[in-house]
Amino acid sequence: MREYTVAVVGATGAVGNEMISVLEERNFPVSRLKLLASERSVGKELTFKGKSLFVEMLDEDSFAGVEIGLFSAGGSISERYAPIAAAAGCVVIDNTSAFRMAPDVPLIVPEVNPGAISRYKNRGIIANPNCSTIQMVVALKPIHDAVRIKRVVVSTYQAVSGTGKKAIAELEEQTRALLNGLKPVIKVYPHQIAFNCLPQIDVFLDNGYTKEEMKMVNETKKILDDPGIAVTATTVRVPVFYGHSESVNIETERKITAERVKNLLSGAPGVKVVDDVKNSQYPLAINAAGKDDTFVGRIREDESLPNGINMWIVSDNLRKGAALNAVQIAEILAREYL
Ligand code: A2P
Repeated sequence: MREYTVAVVGATGAVGNEMISVLEERNFPVSRLKLLASERSVGKELTFKGKSLFVEMLDEDSFAGVEIGLFSAGGSISERYAPIAAAAGCVVIDNTSAFRMAPDVPLIVPEVNPGAISRYKNRGIIANPNCSTIQMVVALKPIHDAVRIKRVVVSTYQAVSGTGKKAIAELEEQTRALLNGLKPVIKVYPHQIAFNCLPQIDVFLDNGYTKEEMKMVNETKKILDDPGIAVTATTVRVPVFYGHSESVNIETERKITAERVKNLLSGAPGVKVVDDVKNSQYPLAINAAGKDDTFVGRIREDESLPNGINMWIVSDNLRKGAALNAVQIAEILAREYL
């Protein structure tokens, strides 16, 4: 099998670390792995397949000879370096929001719209969707195909790891401080995150929604290729380290029973149904952490609507929500296009 030169941009970050692990675990055919980050990380060592690799500084010459670039170093870095990488012949799989809504850039969840990957040829860039959107559409797709979803109302309970390493440290430090009777230091979020819930993820927009909420709205339409699907979201940061949870209410065009949803999702790629309420079994962030699947439970009919379903969707935001989805895209790219 042909092997590829792969670069991870943002290799020292929370998602970057996970990308390196997922490439290794899935035995992606890597001939050479290039680890790129800021000047601060030059000389740091990370391990890939038992070998120690030095982190290099990202610059304009970083992509010579690189075939696949996995980017997760923030939107402004992608805006600047993804076109440079693409011009050097590298296919960029970008985990930031920089190119997601560009009409000529495909936005891919392999279980949902793998065929759209071919459009990477437009600009040499493939966008990896927002973490909360990925796990939601993986579960929505089989239902949408069966009875067409008209409207989605979603509230999220999102882990701090989605913000990056500094936020993981902040939750840890604030929790420790408070349990020791000390004042928590607030740096990453606008308020204390330990023992709290923050109904703000990313910045507020003019319409009163946050950017994260509008990502869920717009990206869902693009991935499901259905601009008519109505989506409204409330995104909340909670003091959980790994794993995003979502309460999702859907209204469908045709009636679907909870039983049929369970059956459909039980056979859906990337989904595991955990729904045994008599024994208090439902998806939990602490169980989803470190796993690849999107877990769905609490599947029930919405008794306030003629055609409605409620469910609870949980997945590891760093894996299916970011690194795993990106590597799955790379696998299809390698298998079918490169
Ligand atoms: P570094 O560790 O050198 O700062 P996280 O989301 O966990 O905070 O990680 C962000 C990632 O993006 C890190 O790998 C970080 O590298 C990288 N990054 C941030 N700013 C830059 C930059 N100016 N150039 C290259 N990489 C960057």
